Formats: sequence, structure tokens, C-alpha cells
Amino acid sequence: MNSIGKRNGVNRVCSENLDVTKGNIKIEWFKGGITNICYNCLDKNIESGNGDKVALHWEGNEPDVDGSLTYRQLFEKVCQLANFLKDNGVKKGDTVIIYLPMLMELPITMLACARIGAVHSVVFAGYSAESLLQRVMDCKPKIVVTCNAVKRGKKVLNLKEIVDAALSESSQNGISVDSCLTYENESAMKKEDTKWQKGRDIWWQDVVPKYPTKCDVVWVDAEDPLFLLYTSGSTGKPKGVLHTTGGYMIYTATTFKYAFDYKDSDIYWCTADCGWITGHSYVTYGPLLNGATVILYEGVPNYPDSGRCWEIVDKYKVTIFYTAPTLVRSLMRDGNEYVTRYSRKSLRVLGSVGEPINPSAWRWFFNIVGDSRCPISDTWWQTETGGFMITPLPGAWPQKPGSATFPFFGVEPVIVDEKGKEIEGECSGYLCVKSSWPGAFRTLYGDHDRYETTYFKPFPGYYFSGDGCSRDKNGYYWLTGRVDDVINVSGHRIGTAEVESALVSHPQCAEAAVVGVEHEVKGQGIYAFVTLVEGVPYSEDLRKSLVLAVRNQIGAFAAPDRIHWAPSLPKTRSGKIMRRILRKIASRQLDELGDISTLADPSVVDQLIALADS
Ligand code: WT7
Repeated sequence: MNSIGKRNGVNRVCSENLDVTKGNIKIEWFKGGITNICYNCLDKNIESGNGDKVALHWEGNEPDVDGSLTYRQLFEKVCQLANFLKDNGVKKGDTVIIYLPMLMELPITMLACARIGAVHSVVFAGYSAESLLQRVMDCKPKIVVTCNAVKRGKKVLNLKEIVDAALSESSQNGISVDSCLTYENESAMKKEDTKWQKGRDIWWQDVVPKYPTKCDVVWVDAEDPLFLLYTSGSTGKPKGVLHTTGGYMIYTATTFKYAFDYKDSDIYWCTADCGWITGHSYVTYGPLLNGATVILYEGVPNYPDSGRCWEIVDKYKVTIFYTAPTLVRSLMRDGNEYVTRYSRKSLRVLGSVGEPINPSAWRWFFNIVGDSRCPISDTWWQTETGGFMITPLPGAWPQKPGSATFPFFGVEPVIVDEKGKEIEGECSGYLCVKSSWPGAFRTLYGDHDRYETTYFKPFPGYYFSGDGCSRDKNGYYWLTGRVDDVINVSGHRIGTAEVESALVSHPQCAEAAVVGVEHEVKGQGIYAFVTLVEGVPYSEDLRKSLVLAVRNQIGAFAAPDRIHWAPSLPKTRSGKIMRRILRKIASRQLDELGDISTLADPSVVDQLIALADS
């Protein structure tokens, strides 16, 4: 176990054990150091003379609706909310669930929690009531912060209704949340039309602005928790990834600065939602710690049309634009005209995250969006890693379309074979990390065993990422996608088990097996094989209601692209579903089925193939 001292000649203010054979897994950085991330995002920037600099530009769903806050104004809003939270009983270490769309109130709430040492857990406002309920039950928040509704494109989503459903269900199960602070998002829904639970619900605009615009910082230990963020794994139960304060702060600030070659004059836009880790590390914390001007966009990239992103780039003179391959691919499909109609000459650096970016999308992004002059930072990282792990530094070394290039400072990736043996040089295998880095997650909330089992037991001595990877002869890393039962749909991580459990919750579904298939825009699509309860005939209506079950249980983004009715599933004699075969059938690689002789009933395969296109 390392402690404070030198390793490879470098001072490390960390204590770690990543080897399960040597005891419990533990990672600590800067323990004993006292800090506050909200202080470093706001007070420090104001003290250094940046109080009048714009911190947030907010662009609404409709092109003519916008707003902005300087660092000083943001500080005041955060303090008012922090005072409200304190007044409503939120103390250091308490959890607050945030279920908000991309309004300025989302980062404001995150920062207000951090200011008083409360732990935020943002739930992406596309998750269903059922998923929200699951998270409420797991982390038992003191308070939930939401808004009444949001407009995304032409659609109005009634978020308050979802929160109501989750909270009434949670209180029937013994977890009652005392207060639900609700922001009136007027452009989407009026107060009068919002359902209200007296005694629990509070209108943000009625109370928060009355609080003082100053609020003392609660100093915390570097190892005190900052936030919980639920992500998908290979079982149906989401994992509460826990990040602490000091290491995460240093890591997001530093990676942001170097991977985007950040300069004070930059205008930065990351299209991710704060409901995902990208929005935590690279919409809120990393940029604000650097005193950056950040764009928040409420809407969708193709509303009113597919030129919206470039209209926003020109409107705010965006210099750094960070997005996901799925957005690149979908805009690429809509044609260059939408891009070239805008100047985009402010752009300097482009970024990509969420999944491997295929070389043709990379080239389009580089040549068309960036006019062949902006380097692309293809950043590989994960909810668990807190910040970038493998990423180009713009302009520092030759790019290769589709490669995330080299590790960030201090990160020690290794590629191992199935036996967990490190392989050198040009090779492919499983991507692991050999030693800790400051932004690493410290545990899974309430389940340190699962943390050790999932990430540290597969290859003792290493953190296992769940990704496959190869390294070329020049040392460039090429990520090849998940090797576990997790699929990556439009850069959103979804566990196959979660979708399966949603499907079998349908009364007419007996069994389900879900696999990922290549999808032109989303990267991966969801392909579900279902067997039905005895005697139930398969029909179009049933297909629709199975898809609906997934939308209701998880959220629209997890809806299967394809339902494949299976009279029975290919199983081994011990009853294990052979997913390898299902993956081949789903991708119609029928001549690559491999050995099917170990199946209990090999004829199932022909039956499935016959039904594939029906
Ligand atoms: C998984 C993590 C990190 C924020 C967004 C997703 C895939 C992420 C890349 C990239 C290839 C990538 C991996 C990883 N991934 N970035 N640049 N190249 N693959 O966070 O939901 O935790 O998902 O996304 O498969 O394991 P997440």
C-alpha cells in the first residue's frame, strides 16, 4: 500500500490498495486536506477579479429565449439556495436528489449542495418515475429539487408528475421525502397547471430569492463525499458511484485545462446533460474551477432544425465544442448544408466522448464542422473515473481518427489478457488501470463488496474498466467498446439486465434476453429477444406495449429498437442463455454462429432465425 511519499520519484499524496489479494480496496487522495469545491468554483474566481465575467450563458429550447449569469450573480444564486437548503434541515453529509433539465438551476443546485457539504445525486430528467424511485429508495434524500416541466423540441415533459409518482411510491415503502423544491419553468408550464402536494411542495421562485445572497462555506475533508451518480452495470440494480471532493476537484480542473488547451478567453460548450458524469465534470466543475464561460443548452440539437448547434456556436462565439459521436453522426446524416450555413470561425478545439468515434464521423467532425483546423480531443473516460483518462492534448501530437491517443498525466493504463497478465507493445485485450488517480470513485454507495467484485476482482491488482482496447505499434490506444453486459446507446450506458427486468415486468412476457447491435446513429441499438407467457400470441400491439414497459420502467432513451419474438431461447444444459449466439442472430451474422452443440436444444437457433425478419 502506498502512502504519502514518493513513487517512481514523484510525490504522491495518496494512499491506495488496488489489489484484492492484499486486503480491502481503498483509494484516498489528499486526506486531511480541507477544502470546498464551491468555494473554488465561485469565491476564488470572484476574489481573483473575475466577478463580472460570465459564468453561464443559458440558451433555451426556443432560439429567442436565453439568459446569463456572471460569476458574482451565480455566487449569489448559489448562496440563496444554500441558505434555503440549510433552513430546510439539509446538513453536511445529507443527500439531495436533483431531477432537473438543463436550466441554470441545475448547476446552481449542485454548487449549493457542495457549498454546505451536502451530497448531490443528479438523476437525468429523462429517467422514468420507476428509476427515480429506485434512486430515492437507495440514497434516501432529505429533499428533492425539480421543476414543473421542460420543453425539448416540440415536446413538453411533465417532470413534476414523475417526481410525484416516485415520491408517493417511496413514502408507501417507508422512505418519505419532506420537501420537494420545484422551479417554475414558465416557458414549458404555468404554475396553475402544476399538480401540487401541500406541505411538501415548495415553489422555488416564492422562497429562494428571499434568502441572503451570502452563505458561509462548510469546509470539508478532501475525502468527504461530493456526489453520488447512479450508473448501469451488469445487474438490474444501478450502481451509486461515489466521488469525493479533493481528488475529484484537482482532477476535473486539470484535465479540463489540458485536454481542451483552455485559455481565459475561451467560450466553452459541452452538449452533455448534467444528469450524466460529463455534465458533472465538464459542464459544471472542471470549467467553473478554471473560471470559464460555459454554455448551457436546454433543448435538442435538431430543433428548430439541424443547424441549431452551429447557430449557438456563432451566437456565443464558442471556441471549444465538446459533444458525443451520436450527435455527430445524426447531424452528419442531415447534410453539410446545415453546418456550412454558419460561420463557426470562433471554433478552436473540438471534443468527443461517450463511445468510440468511428473514423468517418471523426473526419466529418474535423473537416466539415472544424473546417480542418480544429484538433479533436477524443476523451476516453467513465462515470467511475471522474475525468479524462486517455485523451489527446490538442496540437501536442499527431491525431489518428478513432484513437483516444495516450494516457493523461499520471494515468497508468495497461492492457491485460484473459488471465489478467499485462501485455506489452502492439496488442489487444482488456483495458485496466494499474494505480489510482485523484478522480477515481471511492466506492459504490452502500455496497463496497460490489465495488471490489465488479472492478477489482476480475484482474487482481488492477482497476478493470469493462472496456476492450488495443494498442498500436506507436503506442496509441484504440477503445473497442464494452466487454461486459453493458450497452452504450447514444453514449448512454444501459445494462442489458435492466432492460430485461423491465420487459419481464410485463405480465405477458415470460423471459427476455437483450443484446446490443450496431446502430448507424446511436452507436449501439437495443435488441430484445422475448418469450411470452404460455398461450399468449405475439402481435404488434403486444410489441408496442413491451416497448412501453421499458420506457415506463427506465426512460425513453432505453426503449428497445427491435423486439424479436422467441418461442424459446438458446440455453446451455445448465440453463444459461448463450448471448454470443443471440448477438450473432441480432446482427444477422448467421454464418458466424460458432459451436451450438452445447445447447440443450440446438433447434431453437433455426426457429429464431426463421422468425428474425417476421
Ligand atoms: C463508457 C463509460 C465518460 C462520459 C460519458 C460516458 C465508453 C466513453 C469513450 C471514448 C471510446 C468511450 C466506454 C466507457 N466511452 N468515452 N472516447 N472512446 N469509448 O460515461 O456512461 O460511464 O460510460 O463509455 O465504453 O466504458 P459512462
